[in-house]
Amino acid sequence: LKVLREVDAVARLADRFRAAGLSIGFVPTMGALHAGHLALVARARAECERVIVSIFVNPTQFAPGEDFDAYPRPLTADIEACREAGVDLVFCGEARDLYPPGFQTWVAVEELAKPLCGPRRPGHFRGVATIVSQLLSIVRPHRAYFGRKDYQQCLVVARLVTDLHLGTEVRTCETVRESDGLAMSSRNARLSPAERTTAARIHRALAAARETLERGEGSVESLEAKLRGDLERGGGLEVEYAEALDAPTLAALPSGNLPRGPGHVLLAVAARAGKTRLIDNLVVEIPARRGTTD
Ligand code: PAF
Repeated sequence: LKVLREVDAVARLADRFRAAGLSIGFVPTMGALHAGHLALVARARAECERVIVSIFVNPTQFAPGEDFDAYPRPLTADIEACREAGVDLVFCGEARDLYPPGFQTWVAVEELAKPLCGPRRPGHFRGVATIVSQLLSIVRPHRAYFGRKDYQQCLVVARLVTDLHLGTEVRTCETVRESDGLAMSSRNARLSPAERTTAARIHRALAAARETLERGEGSVESLEAKLRGDLERGGGLEVEYAEALDAPTLAALPSGNLPRGPGHVLLAVAARAGKTRLIDNLVVEIPARRGTTD
């Protein structure tokens, strides 16, 4: 395992891999690696000949007042986890290199950043899109791997890769969950035991909403109201949003009857357990012509 901090050194080594005809899988992270990240690494390992992981807590994707300072940074343990997972190169970028004095080029994916986390985390997706564009330009991987827990981020990244002709295949991997359904997140470590118990309600509420959606019962409004109600029942979760949207575009669903399909609906939640903000989602396939008789 090589651990490099300099942008040029990483770009050179990645060039060498490519020149030797080796395919590169890239897993960008902010560290505090958990089983979700390691699943991305395992997939990259299975599909590519060299695996590069970046660890960089990107300051520009944290809105003012968010947890940038408190974000966990267990670098030694992360590097060890990468070694055990068979990673070839860890890129520990530094803010002074990725955002040097004079930096002024930003990437904004406009429409996809408008709903859900966009308005609640001002500047977040601009920060994500900018750093991911930089990292993909440095590493120029054949494939890059992202977790579906950050569904909106996955769409934003896929869009910018297309729009900027970055030539990387974006692979979205299933959310890895704890045994009670809580989506793995570096932020889970900050939950108190009581908050941790409450947090498991998020996945239960999403799963119940999925059943309602699959049965086609009620309207978009009643579905969202039930999802919010299930999250709030029992207290301890402050819901930021609980929404059903068209999964590929994040467009609002027409109000009234649930969609007939074919298509995919995103059920998306952001909620706070104490000071910790958690997000989760499910993508539900709606078969064709539900509700018709032919
Ligand atoms: O998902 C994350 O950990 C971050 O948003 C990413 C993609 C590494 C960009 O900083």
